[in-house]
Amino acid sequence: MTTAHVSDTQAPSPLPFHIRPLSPALGAELIGLDLSAPMSDELFESVRDAWHRHLVILLRDQHLTEDEQVRFAERFGPISMSTRGHYQSKNPAIMLISNIREDGQQIGALPDGEMHFHTDQCHQERPAMATMLYSIEVPSVGGNTLFANAYAAYEMLPAAIKQKIEGRKALNAYDYDAAATTRGTKVREGVPACWHPIVRTHPATGRKALFVNRLMTVAIEGLSGDEGGEILNTLFDHQEQRTFVYEHVWRPNDVLLWDNRCTLHARTDFSDKERRLMRRVAIKGEKPV
Ligand code: SIN
Repeated sequence: MTTAHVSDTQAPSPLPFHIRPLSPALGAELIGLDLSAPMSDELFESVRDAWHRHLVILLRDQHLTEDEQVRFAERFGPISMSTRGHYQSKNPAIMLISNIREDGQQIGALPDGEMHFHTDQCHQERPAMATMLYSIEVPSVGGNTLFANAYAAYEMLPAAIKQKIEGRKALNAYDYDAAATTRGTKVREGVPACWHPIVRTHPATGRKALFVNRLMTVAIEGLSGDEGGEILNTLFDHQEQRTFVYEHVWRPNDVLLWDNRCTLHARTDFSDKERRLMRRVAIKGEKPV
């Protein structure tokens, strides 16, 4: 084992990898690990610890089979299996995210263009704790993934807004096309939706994070549609400020793991003339409190 220098703290460390912060907002690249190789429990704990401290971790130049990717994801917790069976890969724990069409049929979910900020599965009672994306084909420009730090967004809220949302819940609905236009009104019949605290506490770090997002949060409990909608729009504009955001420009063979309990993510637009193919694994989470 080599002695590495942990660049974010400038302190010597026995870790066999370097930690390079990705932005002032959040994120760190872990350099020197091969995820296809077996990982001791001790080493894994160091990786998880870095993830808790940096919210998003990046490992570049990884060459992973589907099974190797799933094995690494399972170290963090049980897999949340995709309910969209037709986008599953050979390993059913993997869902393809892609704009590629074969014989006119999409091979993956979330195929095209820009996506608003969101957290994965927040319409479910137990939203995904973490999501891992592994890039196989990426466009030459765009299709970047943006990550916002939900701890910092909460901490930097004006006191008056903190007071307004204290102890309240918001409704999160899986209705991507309608959320922005129907905000403050009733969720359409049959749309999966769930109430969660607007401010949740991360079970591992004990820190509070803002848990609403523009793509899926539609109403605030106990407030009229207009008042709730106005507060939500204020919260979205606040949490999406550049100061809280890291923008990831993908290269093939990147592994990114993000924590849905304290980050939200979005995607920038990209050309439909270029191919984008990612393998995604989601890890089950707990009920937000
Ligand atoms: C996602 O929202 O899970 C996909 C993000 C991406 O395609 O960059």
